[in-house]
Amino acid sequence: MDKFICLDELLFAQGFGTRRQCAGLIAQGRVRVEGAVCTDPAAMLAAQGTRLQVDGLPWECHAPAYLMLHKPTGTECSHRPGAWPSVYSLLPAPLRQRPAPGKGRVQGVQAVGRLDQDTTGLLLLSDDGAFIHRMNSPRRHVPKVYEVTTVHPVDAAQVARLLEGVVLHDDPRPVRAAACEAVSSQHLRLTLTEGKYHQVKRMVAAAGNRVAALHRSRIGALRLPDELAPGQWRWLTEAELALLAP
Ligand code: URA
Repeated sequence: MDKFICLDELLFAQGFGTRRQCAGLIAQGRVRVEGAVCTDPAAMLAAQGTRLQVDGLPWECHAPAYLMLHKPTGTECSHRPGAWPSVYSLLPAPLRQRPAPGKGRVQGVQAVGRLDQDTTGLLLLSDDGAFIHRMNSPRRHVPKVYEVTTVHPVDAAQVARLLEGVVLHDDPRPVRAAACEAVSSQHLRLTLTEGKYHQVKRMVAAAGNRVAALHRSRIGALRLPDELAPGQWRWLTEAELALLAP
């Protein structure tokens, strides 16, 4: 069932500012709904799919928000980054300012897990806490596929070690790749179902090689689309969401 809410609530929920700021945007004629200026804060609209334009910014309403970002190198998955710009700075302001669903507090979308500063590739973001939890849960074993460029040529013994399990310094239990293949002399394709700190880099080092570059190409059945350039984001489609939550 489609949910309908009034325009001022919709603007607030989508992250266009405080309730007072949203009321001001509407009163000043700065909001278009499906192409036409709307100055009625009480106009009832679908919470999902309504097309707004706010100060000229086209905005399709999504509630909750599920999106993918092609994370570029040199960005941190943190709201308070240290040395590098935050991945959140690649998103439009409403996605960073939207309130937590059903609450007034600004929370913005959150990354589903983290990639290192120098890792590129598929990053999911959402404001749906249950979705983030589900995708991160070690019990669900969501496979994540990494394209690893190695410093040294890969050999069969290294692939075998990664599949059998290697021991990392913080845990005596071996961690193994769910799948591992040598795509070319210095390209490994590695599938992991857990997300330990620097896991790929540490596993490859423990297997006797080193990571020169790391790219995440897939999460579950969802592949990073070729047309999404580094730094770009887009909403997940219904079909993509269904792939992630079978
Ligand atoms: N493993 C790593 O070592 N780094 C990442 O960014 C992701 C997985």
